[in-house]
Amino acid sequence: MQWATFTAVAALLAQNVNAQGSMLRFACSQLVVERTDPLVNPGMKYTPHLHQIVGGNSFNVTMDPNNDPAKLSTCTSCSFVQDKSNYWTAVMFFHHKNGSYIRVPQTGNGGPQGKLINKGGLDVYYIPSGKTTAFKKGFRMLAGSATNTEDNKVAKGNICHRCWTSPNENTFVGAQPCSGSDTVAIPSDPKCKMIRQTIIFPTCWDGKNLDSPNHQSHVAYGQGSGATGGGSCPSTHPVKLPQVMYELMWNVTNFADKSQWPTDGSNPFVYSMNIGGSAAHGDYVFGWEGDSLQKAMDNNCNLNTACPKAGLTTQTDAQYSACTKKQQAPEDVDGWLKSLPLGDMAIKA
Ligand SMILES: *[C@@H]1O[C@H](CO)[C@@H](O)[C@H](O)[C@H]1NC(C)=O
Ligand SMILES: *[C@@H]1O[C@H](CO)[C@@H](O)[C@H](O)[C@H]1NC(C)=O
Ligand SMILES: *[C@@H]1O[C@H](CO)[C@@H](O)[C@H](O)[C@H]1NC(C)=O
Repeated sequence: MQWATFTAVAALLAQNVNAQGSMLRFACSQLVVERTDPLVNPGMKYTPHLHQIVGGNSFNVTMDPNNDPAKLSTCTSCSFVQDKSNYWTAVMFFHHKNGSYIRVPQTGNGGPQGKLINKGGLDVYYIPSGKTTAFKKGFRMLAGSATNTEDNKVAKGNICHRCWTSPNENTFVGAQPCSGSDTVAIPSDPKCKMIRQTIIFPTCWDGKNLDSPNHQSHVAYGQGSGATGGGSCPSTHPVKLPQVMYELMWNVTNFADKSQWPTDGSNPFVYSMNIGGSAAHGDYVFGWEGDSLQKAMDNNCNLNTACPKAGLTTQTDAQYSACTKKQQAPEDVDGWLKSLPLGDMAIKA
């Protein structure tokens, strides 16, 4: 989001509760790219599809909700030292007409709010609207669906893609996230220099369950959509949460030559599930130290700057980018691959 946009959003929100006009927005570099998923497939190595994971290095094949990532992690690949949460999503690949796949590089986002420097990974937002209750230790949730193949089952206001026609991530394209010409499907147009993916999580909690069997039913989307912090909550999920939003910049600049695209007309850009953009999803495991996130929300901490009132300190991009983890399900994920890492281990092309 850009300042112009944020101002517009803030103006909208002014009628709609957000008195703060502040939000956290920060970079997270890649911790690891591997086939694990402690939320959906705990204990499993070589899960059905590949993920890219950022955040605290206590990320593991199994993550017992009774353990505190803030205590177990010795570093985080995200800007704030106090944030040992884990954030993960599927991975985008380019599908060459010869059948091979290669991972699409990721970059940080820019704009007047400040350039975010990422080594891979994604950008995370916590957008409050009015008084919010921060997540509790052990909280986790999932947005979207890794198995959905129907675009019309996805609320575009929450999960979307934008064709980023500017070669520069600092030159803003479009309006508010998940508005206008943004699409549920992954755009396939050689004019896109980057594809920006946005995943907006629900902002309403049942106030009781830290998780649920599908990792979704303990939370709900409130009124309104987009990056507004969320509107009022339903009576079943009355507790207002900060709005978590992931922003991913997939740099497709190198894949603009249509003569290399699949000849059957299929989209050359696929996620690791290989069933289309409507299967986009994001996973979240809360891991902020103590009540630091609550304090950040209550003290209007803003963007990726240190916030002494809430005890938030920042790392340099070199520091957070140095926090990485070895793959626990080792396989090739870089370079040209003969097939996507689905089911069997990936094999180099
Ligand atoms: C990850 O889990 C394994 C057991 O599955 C354990 O040996 C290891 O210490 C854990 N690592 C971290 C960082 O918690
Ligand atoms: C497909 O094309 C890429 C790029 O030229 C090449 O590196 C890769 O080896 C090719 N794959 C096969 C199976 O020929
Ligand atoms: C995107 O990729 C192109 C081609 O490799 C590169 O020149 C450009 O710097 C990249 N853009 C960003 C924002 O990383």
